[in-house]
Amino acid sequence: MALLEIREVTKRFGGLIALSGFKLEVQQGEILGLIGPNGSGKTTTFNVITGFLKPDGGKVIFEGEDITGLQPYAIAKKGVIRTFQLANLFFDLTVLDNVLIGFHNLSKITMLDELLNTRSRRKEKKELLGRAMEILQLTELDSHKEKLAKNLSAGWRKTLAIAVALAANPKLLLLDEPVCTLSPARVASIINLIMKVRDSGVTVMLIEHNMRAIMDYCDRIAVLNFGKKIADGSPERVKRNREVIDAYLGM
Ligand SMILES: Nc1ncnc2c1ncn2[C@@H]1O[C@H](COP(=O)(O)OP(=O)(O)OP(=O)(O)O)[C@@H](O)[C@H]1O
Ligand SMILES: [Mg+2]
Repeated sequence: MALLEIREVTKRFGGLIALSGFKLEVQQGEILGLIGPNGSGKTTTFNVITGFLKPDGGKVIFEGEDITGLQPYAIAKKGVIRTFQLANLFFDLTVLDNVLIGFHNLSKITMLDELLNTRSRRKEKKELLGRAMEILQLTELDSHKEKLAKNLSAGWRKTLAIAVALAANPKLLLLDEPVCTLSPARVASIINLIMKVRDSGVTVMLIEHNMRAIMDYCDRIAVLNFGKKIADGSPERVKRNREVIDAYLGM
């Protein structure tokens, strides 16, 4: 069974068809790249999967369960966690605090615990801090942990967005352009991080604009053009697909 199944999803904005009968399966443990020219429906796909937009037709199935149209928080709780195309961080908070906020979904602390400063609250806080430090080490953000998010470079902000997403304990991590606009050195380090995340058991679906940037590390690539899937297969196959070449040359 596929981890995620997008079944014939259609999404319209007035007269514009952003997605048209889009079908895609994401398998457990893979890194799947979703590519396509500007406006081809990539971010819309993430919005539909994560409940930020309701599709006009079709279904989204996660772990065999129909999650179409559930609220974003309910979908996040099931383990489908996204990052945004423009990093969505608390810029006036530190790196560490941003990651701690990412745990919000999972925390079992109730308001009463918070008020009474109970032992369970103190214990959980200690556990969360330990887990945050693990994530900061994995993402190599540990030496920046006291910095305010606004003082990070673009590359570290993108890395922090991934760290915050990891705090929510994803089964499926959706990354919207995680390397776009970065220097080659930062691109390599984020790609390395994405591969480590996958090796830790998280399935990754990522959006990229630039086909060349993701050819080497995606297990599979799906291509959207004007809301329609025009190719789906190994990077090698997709690269040679005539329709894909034309879509990119027509950009
Ligand atoms: N909330 C919205 N309201 C109206 N139109 C929208 C909305 N969101 C997206 N669109 C339109 O739907 C189409 C697909 O947009 P989408 O953001 O999914 O593209 P994309 O593939 O992510 O593009 P990019 O590479 O530029 O990020 C575009 O024509 C866009 O203008
Ligand atoms: Mg987009």
